[in-house]
Amino acid sequence: MTQTPSWWQTGTIYQIYPRSFMDGNGDGIGDIPGIISKLDYLRWLDVDAIWLSPIYPSPMADFGYDIADYTDVHPIFGKLSDMEQLIVEAHKRDLKVILDFVPNHTSDEHPWFQESRSSRDNPRRDWYMWHDPASDGGPPNNWTSFFGGSAWQFDEQTGQYYLHMFDVKQPDLNWRNPDMREAMYNVLRFWLERGIDGFRVDVLWMLLKDEQLRDNPQHPDWKPGDPPYLRQEGRYTEDQPGIHEIVREMRKTLDEFGERVFIGEIYLPIHRLMHYYGEMLDEAHLPFNFQFVTTPTWEARTIQSMVHEYEEALPEGAWPNWVLGNHDRPRVASRLGREQARAAQMLLLTLRGTPTCYYGDELGMQDVAIPLEMMHDPQGKDNPANGRDPNRTPMQWDDTPNAGFSPAGIQTWLPIALDYQNNNVAAEQQDPRSFLTLTRTLLTLRRALPALSQGTYQTLDQDNANCFAFLREHEDTRYLVVLNFAETEQVVKPLPTGQGHIILSTYLDREEDVDLAHLQLRAHEGCLIKL
Ligand code: NOJ
Repeated sequence: MTQTPSWWQTGTIYQIYPRSFMDGNGDGIGDIPGIISKLDYLRWLDVDAIWLSPIYPSPMADFGYDIADYTDVHPIFGKLSDMEQLIVEAHKRDLKVILDFVPNHTSDEHPWFQESRSSRDNPRRDWYMWHDPASDGGPPNNWTSFFGGSAWQFDEQTGQYYLHMFDVKQPDLNWRNPDMREAMYNVLRFWLERGIDGFRVDVLWMLLKDEQLRDNPQHPDWKPGDPPYLRQEGRYTEDQPGIHEIVREMRKTLDEFGERVFIGEIYLPIHRLMHYYGEMLDEAHLPFNFQFVTTPTWEARTIQSMVHEYEEALPEGAWPNWVLGNHDRPRVASRLGREQARAAQMLLLTLRGTPTCYYGDELGMQDVAIPLEMMHDPQGKDNPANGRDPNRTPMQWDDTPNAGFSPAGIQTWLPIALDYQNNNVAAEQQDPRSFLTLTRTLLTLRRALPALSQGTYQTLDQDNANCFAFLREHEDTRYLVVLNFAETEQVVKPLPTGQGHIILSTYLDREEDVDLAHLQLRAHEGCLIKL
């Protein structure tokens, strides 16, 4: 890397799910004052930026991803002035603030949609995707919603269907309408003027749909019980021609304000994902790389090829990024078990590229089983096996009732994990071998060592199929990362010859010189070694 890297390149992003981070007013739901009260913790943890899932007014049909007003704050989260205070307080601590921007759809309670649905000749009619019924009176085509069922809803009043790729209360906007586009860019400007440092843009690759409304092909192996979003191939609803023009326009809007970051939520195969950097690197700074959250297998060779192929596919000058968990997928410590999740944390925080850490994953928080009657998530209500409530439970701050998230005796919006008395921030801060201590040590090392935050990456092929090793180098510093994916002890070979010095083991119990000809790793162990 020749130029001075930007904050979003060397830094680590921490995702906050505002309902579940910290309840500042004792109503059982997290809020912005709660987040402000924990900024010192985030500074201590040593992350660089926080990304907040939506905080806007919303009927909460999809927990804030159904927005009724893009330029205000939902009263359960606080007031606009709380958001302004959060920006000031975060900046005082050298933390950036990134907002979620949801441009694919609004809430059906957004005034734009209310106008749009009021009559066929309303000036905002064309801001949404209205179409006539098919000849049999049914939906215009076969497109299905990500949450299940047809993506079309009939509206009696005007006799047409509107499109909703998610919940029926989330009508899709029409990104071919220039006035709507400009209104959305003004939403970005509203927040950028208030000091927001960037956006994570929701379902960026889905904003345009086929103008001819052609049917999507069905996935032949989909069966009931599988997630509804896998039912069809999104051939005519995803990654459509014309999308890059929109992404460039969004980027230009951000660029009016200097150095702000543009992160895109994009679930696409790597070769198509790369297009979202833009031919001139003039689109998203960080098209989210979700390989680690979508991979069905977590084993050394698979992960090694993923990293290698991704590195190879990156266009010249494009900056990589890695994600281990988010509010839509099971938690990493549940997918891999807490032991292997420690090695995965080392992987995330030592690879080349910006890491994003989901709140609670720094503690090794796990999914919490939620009984059907307590489920909130529309995706879970339709299909309990795919519910996202289990990975959105309240942050475990300490061992007091309600885990320090809400005052004792308050019913929290989702139940607290049963293990909170042992697994919580306060306890783990005291424990020199805890998951949290590991995360913080990795973050601190990443900040201290340019080889980790901006150095080159090189895969080291070696014989043991249970292990993955790679090198990070910057100027005259070289670090080796070796990870054991197995639950048994392994010898890693071959490695660069000579002596190394282990500066960190995921067990947090050894810092020592090692002969690299005989490097033994314990079950699930990862080591960071100075060469
Ligand atoms: C992706 C978000 O991450 C998810 O939580 C939401 O349900 C959908 N987009 C719809 O906005």
